[in-house]
Amino acid sequence: MSEKPPVKILFVCLGNICRSPLAEGIMRAVVGEAGRDSDFVIDSAGTGGWHVGSAPDPRSIAVAARNGIDIAAQRCRRIEPADFESFDLILAMDRSNLDDLLALAPAPARPKVHMFLAYASGQDKEIGDPYYGGADGFDRAYRIIRDASLSLIDRFT
Ligand code: 4NP
Repeated sequence: MSEKPPVKILFVCLGNICRSPLAEGIMRAVVGEAGRDSDFVIDSAGTGGWHVGSAPDPRSIAVAARNGIDIAAQRCRRIEPADFESFDLILAMDRSNLDDLLALAPAPARPKVHMFLAYASGQDKEIGDPYYGGADGFDRAYRIIRDASLSLIDRFT
C-alpha cells in the first residue's frame, strides 16, 4: 500500500477543449488500467479563456469515445494562480503553451512547468493544435498522448 501523497498533474493547452481534455481523460484511463488511481490527481486547463464552462470539442469527445474513454462531462477552465501552487507538475502541449505558462508562473513554480512529451519520454516535440484541421489530427493527438501517458506513469513508480 502506498503511503506517498498523490502526484498532482495539470495538462495545459490553449483552449482546454481539444488536447488537454484528451490528455486528462487518457492519463486518467492509463492510471486506472494500472490500478493506481490513488497515486495521481489529474486535471486540465487552458491558457486562454474563450471556452470556459464548455464541454470538450466534439472531435475530442469522439476520438476518446472510440477508444473507450468518456470525457464528455469535463468542462473547460482557465489556468489560475492557485494552480501553480497546488499542482506538482504542469505539462504544456506546445511551445507557445510553455511560454505562456512560464510567463504566468511565479518563480518558485517555474520548475514544475515542462513540455509534456519532453518530460514523459524525452522527445523534443510538440503536440500540435488539431483545432483547425480534420479528424485525423485528433486521432494523431490521441495516439501521441496515449504513448506519452504510458511513459509518464512509469516515471512515478
Ligand atoms: P486546444 O485547441 O488548445 O487543444 O484546446 C484550441 C481550441 C480552441 C482554440 C484554439 C485552440 N480557439 O482559438 O478557440
